[in-house]
Amino acid sequence: MIHVRTGSDSRIMSVGGYQPARIVPNSEIIERIDSTDEWIRQRTGIESRRFAAKDESVLDMAQAACLQAIERSGLKIEDIDTVIFASITYPYQAPSGATALSARLGNPKAAAFDINAACAGFCYGLGMASDFIRAGSSKYVLVIGVEKLTDFVDPADRATAFIFADGAGAVVVGPSDHPAIGPTVWGADADSRDAILLDPSWLEFRDSATNVAWPVISQQGQAVFRWAAYSVSKAGTRALAAAGVSPDQLAAFIPHQANVRIIETMAKEMGLPDSVVIAQDIRTSGNTSAASVPLAMAALLKDRPELSGGLALLIGYGAGLVYAGQVVELP
Ligand SMILES: CC(C)(COP(=O)(O)OP(=O)(O)OC[C@H]1O[C@@H](n2cnc3c(N)ncnc32)[C@H](O)[C@@H]1OP(=O)(O)O)[C@@H](O)C(=O)NCCC(=O)NCCS
Repeated sequence: MIHVRTGSDSRIMSVGGYQPARIVPNSEIIERIDSTDEWIRQRTGIESRRFAAKDESVLDMAQAACLQAIERSGLKIEDIDTVIFASITYPYQAPSGATALSARLGNPKAAAFDINAACAGFCYGLGMASDFIRAGSSKYVLVIGVEKLTDFVDPADRATAFIFADGAGAVVVGPSDHPAIGPTVWGADADSRDAILLDPSWLEFRDSATNVAWPVISQQGQAVFRWAAYSVSKAGTRALAAAGVSPDQLAAFIPHQANVRIIETMAKEMGLPDSVVIAQDIRTSGNTSAASVPLAMAALLKDRPELSGGLALLIGYGAGLVYAGQVVELP
């Protein structure tokens, strides 16, 4: 018989975020894609976003977010035993971004691996971290969502250039004396895999300085919009039910930041009352894919510290198409 070590309940102990210094307003983007500031604000809610410097890497941004999260957790870096790194823009297949990061952080012995669940990556990783702690496989898990999407967006593509941006967010997940992370409701609609692609064969983008070909992101905007607004919101309702939480018990809704109209439609579909604070970090951060949920959480807690300890529904969704959501107690 195998001796089974059981863990404990889990919670988010802290959150950290990092955004590059450069603020890019719509006015800097519109000329190249024949658009207007008004169109982008109306269709997406985006007013500005952050672009990383040319020499600022995914690892640089991840490191900054992780150091903030670890400091806020009150732990030491060597207390972290597991590192989960969610990104679709770390440019190496192997070795992983997670091991590169844990070596940089001075904790090279931690279990470390990458996950690719696109804009749902953080919520996939958070669900795994919580389950590892509950099972006794891990005690303190660092979950990072980080992207440098500007490396993979064609700046002249009218369908994507105004949406995607750069940044990093991280949380430390650890033991709790009560359940503070609800069950993860996750899944996929893999028949619609073509709706968002990061694919070198679809459209080849040549870096003007080096003439090197890069894969670029492409998407079917309207199909993704409908799927997110109407299908993914049903997963949100299931995540609430799985946690035994009713919409009026929520303090906040922190969905993936892809489009303000999607966020508002989801809130309506799930019947969230006006008392629920809805994260709209997209307005000044754009869509940072795996980084968007932890970045939005960090921004919300900075603006509204009284939300700390309240319940929040998190939902990530993106290329795959994949989704994951859970109710959490905010750190
Ligand atoms: C991308 C998105 C903002 C486009 O908005 P939309 O309303 O679907 O736009 P459409 O492609 O239907 O185009 C509508 C009109 O706007 C125009 N248009 C398209 N892109 C434009 C742009 N960048 N600037 C100005 N006009 C634009 C089109 O030419 C079209 O004009 P017409 O009505 O005269 O033919 C929207 O589909 C969206 O947000 N989808 C979800 C994408 C997403 O969340 N992706 C990430 C998931 S992780």
